[in-house]
Amino acid sequence: MTTLTTPLTVRATTLANRVVLAPMGVGHSEKGVPDEHLRAFYRRRAQNGVGLLISGATFIDHSSASNHVLLPSIASTAAQVSWQRIVADVHAEGAPMLLQIEHAGVDRDPRSSLDLCGRVLSPSGIDHRGHSHGDEMSLADIHEVIDAFARSATVAQRLGFDGVEVHGAHGFLIDQFLWDATNHREDEYGEPSRFAVDVIQAIRAATNDDFIISFRWSQWKLHDYSARIANDITQLDKLLRPIAAAGVDLFHASTRRWWEPLFPSSPLTAAGWTKKMTGKPTIAAGSIATTGPSFDSVFEGQGAEATTPADAVARMQQNEFDLIAVGRPLLGDPEWASKMLSERFDDIGDFDARSLVDLH
Ligand SMILES: Cc1cc2nc3c(=O)[nH]c(=O)nc-3n(C[C@H](O)[C@H](O)[C@H](O)COP(=O)(O)O)c2cc1C
Repeated sequence: MTTLTTPLTVRATTLANRVVLAPMGVGHSEKGVPDEHLRAFYRRRAQNGVGLLISGATFIDHSSASNHVLLPSIASTAAQVSWQRIVADVHAEGAPMLLQIEHAGVDRDPRSSLDLCGRVLSPSGIDHRGHSHGDEMSLADIHEVIDAFARSATVAQRLGFDGVEVHGAHGFLIDQFLWDATNHREDEYGEPSRFAVDVIQAIRAATNDDFIISFRWSQWKLHDYSARIANDITQLDKLLRPIAAAGVDLFHASTRRWWEPLFPSSPLTAAGWTKKMTGKPTIAAGSIATTGPSFDSVFEGQGAEATTPADAVARMQQNEFDLIAVGRPLLGDPEWASKMLSERFDDIGDFDARSLVDLH
């Protein structure tokens, strides 16, 4: 029977257990370069039993990709040197690590982003409210950004990462193609999954056979928690199946509350449907080990009460999904995974939003 301590092999990499550090952008990356605090943050999680680390969203090597000067990038030599040290530390502790790669799309104000002169690019030159912002991508822009995703993945491979997680969630560029509110195109990229498929295929073609590709998707957007890219099973199947076939090894379903049924017709969760439709190993995420408000409350300074992930583990044992990603609890307590795996539940404290500032 699968438990939290059951290993899982994805391509050539064996994860020692089922606990994943959820991707979290926690700053500490002035001009896109991860600093020593961020390096120590990852090393401590690897030292303390996390089965797979996923970096916070990291901007790909394109002048239009970034939306924040304090979030990491993979573009500069300084950033690459820093990532190489981080992944070497994590490997020295015996854990694998994926780099989450992102392009912010329309969600970008060049004045507060890396690359002041970079353009604002998106499928239709509109934001989530339909307001004009930046440029609709030409076919040449699209091909250039796909190349930048592939190039960035090959850099990640060279730096030692075990793979990449393609950020297709939360309303950023790839998700802007998946969502009909932001994709009004009439060419082939009006087909919602087409851009994601091309990105995955380009990464697959550019990287070696051992390199893992994870794909993160979500219904919700940072600017609209009630948004949906799929209203029913057929629509979701049409989105995810071609993305899986393009070369994804691992899916990651991002929700704010993992247990909520994705569609009213069945109790199956977003992770459950993802695994059922794609047949791929799938990570569940969203309030897996906390009660109370969902993760966004962090940005208003709110904490959350710790719980055990027993319900999620039970669903994992029924084969609904394969891994659990934990955000806030691992932000608050670097030893969360080792305490959980050794059943020292009483040693786990509640999550305090100050950990986001302290980053210990
Ligand atoms: C401070 C913070 C930063 C985050 N940054 C990212 C990110 O860079 N990429 C991403 O896909 N999700 C990001 N998330 C969402 C988390 O990956 C996770 O899905 C969310 O926190 C829910 O898990 P939790 O309830 O265990 O915290 C972030 C969450 C937090 C709290």
